[in-house]
Amino acid sequence: MSDIIITQTANVLNLILNRPKKKNALTFAMYDALTEALHAAQKNPDVRVVLLSGSGDSFCSGNDINDFLSSAGLDPSSAPPIRFIEALVGFDKPLIAAVHGSAVGIGTTMLLHADLIYANESARFSVPFVGLGLVPEAASSLLLPRRVGPAAANDLLLRSTVIDAQRAADIGLVNEVVRAPSELLTVARERADEIAAKPPRAVRLTKALTRPPQAELLARVHEEAKHFADRVASDEAREAFSAFMERRPANFASFS
Ligand code: COA
Repeated sequence: MSDIIITQTANVLNLILNRPKKKNALTFAMYDALTEALHAAQKNPDVRVVLLSGSGDSFCSGNDINDFLSSAGLDPSSAPPIRFIEALVGFDKPLIAAVHGSAVGIGTTMLLHADLIYANESARFSVPFVGLGLVPEAASSLLLPRRVGPAAANDLLLRSTVIDAQRAADIGLVNEVVRAPSELLTVARERADEIAAKPPRAVRLTKALTRPPQAELLARVHEEAKHFADRVASDEAREAFSAFMERRPANFASFS
């Protein structure tokens, strides 16, 4: 079974992150599959809405940390995660996300490019870049403070707080908390079908008008990516990644 499952129901394309044993951590191959699927969906008039979800007990535990360990030296402008983020920025049809369990790192920041987000009570959102010796990505340094306000964004980014679905709804990250866990996908699909039945050009124009200009988002994505590439290769990040893989607390005491 592929790590990204792609199905279509009427005019809704379903993209399912499907690496449940690793909590749907994204490998470079998964980013590439998602990028290709978004590009194809963009061109296909039969696709009016994309619905993103995860299999197993998590939405997405972020970038695969093993890939971080082996990716030092990659050109940040052409790395698979950046191509995926560019595809998200350029995607002009509605993107809906159904989130359960952990949404870590890009598991949360990709949601800032979704138009509607539904979560059930198991959802936990976090962006622990600083604790990993990294910086925010996916234009989250711009979008997160705009979305939830600087105070909540700083709690998430600087303190690496983990927030539950209700808190995410309270600060405006999530549209709706679906109380019955098994209903999450049903509700998200209903919303997707509802939008897919609306006039598609009006929908696309409304999305474009309510998003920040693409050029502004892309400029931030690339600015973050330069810092991110340096940080991934830093001693701070190496210590954080090794600590995660070795299941021990990271120790930054010797860093200045
Ligand atoms: N990259 C690589 N492997 C990951 C991963 C990631 N981002 N997230 C989870 N995994 C792996 C674990 O190493 C473990 O593998 P193993 O079974 O071979 O030992 C497996 O997925 C299950 O994870 P585990 O930590 O045991 O599950 P949990 O339920 O206790 O915790 C998370 C779930 C998501 C909270 C936790 O795995 C986590 O914090 N992951 C890292 C998140 C992260 O920092 N991502 C990068 C953000 S930039």
